[in-house]
Amino acid sequence: MDGAVEGVVSYGVAPGKVILFGEHFVVSGNPAVAAAVKLRTTAYTKIRSDGCVSIGSRELGVNVTYADGESMIRSGGSKAESLNPLRLLVEEARRRFRKEEGVDIHIHSEIPMASGLGSSASAAVSTAASLLAAYRIPFDKGIVMELASGAERMVHGRPSGIDHTVITLGGILLYRLGGIFKPLPSPRFKLVVVNTRRFRSTGRLVAKAQEYLDGDPARRRRMLSEAERIVSGAVRSLSRGDLEALGGLMYRNHDLLRELGVSSRELDLIVEAAKDLKALGAKLTGAGGGGCAVVLPRRGSEMEISVQMRGLGFEPFIVDVDEEGAIAGTLDNRGEHPF
Ligand code: PMV
Repeated sequence: MDGAVEGVVSYGVAPGKVILFGEHFVVSGNPAVAAAVKLRTTAYTKIRSDGCVSIGSRELGVNVTYADGESMIRSGGSKAESLNPLRLLVEEARRRFRKEEGVDIHIHSEIPMASGLGSSASAAVSTAASLLAAYRIPFDKGIVMELASGAERMVHGRPSGIDHTVITLGGILLYRLGGIFKPLPSPRFKLVVVNTRRFRSTGRLVAKAQEYLDGDPARRRRMLSEAERIVSGAVRSLSRGDLEALGGLMYRNHDLLRELGVSSRELDLIVEAAKDLKALGAKLTGAGGGGCAVVLPRRGSEMEISVQMRGLGFEPFIVDVDEEGAIAGTLDNRGEHPF
């Protein structure tokens, strides 16, 4: 590729995420519980000798080169704007690390977009991680989170920050606004994430939920306390490894989100189907309105649940919790890469 230095290819890999408890209420200051899940985004990065920055996303089908304030779109014209947050991230990293050299970045992702699984945060985190490796900065998850948070603000307006935090750190986290978090014990379980394939806007759903809460102070208090009780119960269930109790709290959390007005016909259908299949728990995850639901299956029943969900026309993924979070490194000559 023009201007690229032959040789070292760096990579950053980041998982996806599901919010297990407390979405929407976290925006009002309540705690939430999120888990990193094994769906990967990989950013491959190569230093460019000409100082330009080029970013491509395989799944978006877009590739843009930025030089001297101009952008030259190589493919996927109408989607070029969706790369702006990553471009901002690269510029911030270059300023911060005082690097003149540009970069060539290719992003490959297994995470469905705009469906509540943290695809944008995972792209930002993997890109930030790969830049540290490319610019030979010692790997530091704190720096990765700081870089990714700027990009996330550009995508979501005023996000709680839960996505890029859990995606960078991995595992299961108790999270509060302002980036306050605590790692939680993570008993072994599989999740079936079920994608309705219906895109939605997180910003619009957050505004709708907040309007509903603000409409009646007594209702707001009641719902926030119920959400807080659910999260406290979840923390206890995780520490005891009590998946039965954890699942029950997921069903309860879904009912609360329904009342908030952020569920949908498809999401309710998935939760009902999960109950019929004797799953331990199920709820919508993330902003709602479409996107995904998450099901906690009884041990060994994940395949059956997945098959049934596919039969209903949805896209299921069986996932494990990702304990590692973001990683970065460089490929040797034999490693496969898109350059
Ligand atoms: O759409 P998602 O999965 O990124 O979820 C948004 C989660 C909310 O709590 C609704 C908003 C937020 O910023 O935390």
